[in-house]
Amino acid sequence: MQQWSLQQKAAGRRIAFVPTMGFLHEGHLSLLDEGRKNGDLLVLSIFVNPAQFGVGEDYEDYPRDLAADGALAEQAGVDVIFAPTAAQMYPRGFATWVDVERITDMLCGASRPGHFRGVTTVVAKLFNIVQPDIAFFGNKDFQQLAVIRRMVVDQNMPLKIVGLSIVREADGLALSSRNTYLTVEQRMQALSLSHSLAVARQLVADGARDAAPILKEVRDLIEAHPELRIDYLQICHQFSLQEQTQVDADSVLLLAVFAGKTRLIDNCFLI
Ligand code: PAJ
Repeated sequence: MQQWSLQQKAAGRRIAFVPTMGFLHEGHLSLLDEGRKNGDLLVLSIFVNPAQFGVGEDYEDYPRDLAADGALAEQAGVDVIFAPTAAQMYPRGFATWVDVERITDMLCGASRPGHFRGVTTVVAKLFNIVQPDIAFFGNKDFQQLAVIRRMVVDQNMPLKIVGLSIVREADGLALSSRNTYLTVEQRMQALSLSHSLAVARQLVADGARDAAPILKEVRDLIEAHPELRIDYLQICHQFSLQEQTQVDADSVLLLAVFAGKTRLIDNCFLI
C-alpha cells in the first residue's frame, strides 16, 4: 500500500483518504463522495482495530461484510481498498503508541479508557501507510475528530483533515454500524437522542443560555425511555472539549447513551 501511494505521489497525484472499520453506510459514503471530489485518487481503509476496543466491548461482534463493502466502494469510485489483518497492523514486538493527552480524558475517553490511544495509534499508522494529502472524518464521532486534529497539528503530519456533517436516517437517528445491534423497541427509543438534541437547539434559539436547564430537559426526554441509560451528557467547547455552564457559538451538546448493551453517540452545535 505504501509503495503504491509513494509512486502515485511521485507522479504528482493527490491522495484522498477515508479510514473506516467497514460495514459501510450512508455516513461513510458521504465521506467517500467528498473524498472523490478532493483528490486524484481515493483510498478507503477497512480495519476493525482491536486496539481501540476495551475488554468486554464488541470487538468480536462488530459487524463485518467485506463483500458488500467492496461493492459499495466500487460504486463510490474508490480506487484502492486497504484492508489489512490485525497481525499485519500489530505484528509481534509492536511497542509504539500515539497518545493524545488532556482532550482524551473526558467524554468517551472517560467511559472507554485506552480507546483514543488505540484510535490515534491506528490512524497515525494508516496515515504513514496511505500517505494521504487529505483525509475525511465524520462529526458523528466529534471527540475523535478533535483528537485527530490535535494529533495532526502536534505531530506536524503533512495532510489536511476535513470534518463532515452527521448523516441521519429520515427519522433522525444518526447512522452507525452499531445500529444493527438494536431491537425494534430500542431503535424506537433511540430516536429520543436526535429528538432531544433538536429540543435543546430550539431552547437555545428561544434564548436559553444556561447549560443546566437545557441538560435537564434532554436528560428527562431520554430517561423517559426504560431501555436507555445515559453514559454522558455535556455541553462542551468545540475545541478544548471543556464543559461549559453557558452556551455560546462554540458550544456542542454531546451525548452517549446505552440502549441495552449498545452504546450510541450523537451531538450537535447549539447555535
Ligand atoms: P467508523 O466507525 O467505521 O467510522 C468511520 C468514519 O465514518 C468516521 O470518521 C466516522 O465519524 C464517520 N461516520 C460514522 N457514522 C457517520 C454518520 N452517521 N455521519 C457521518 N459520518 C459518520 O471511526 C472509526 O470507524 C474508527 O475509529 C477509525 C477512525 C476508522 C479508526 O479505527
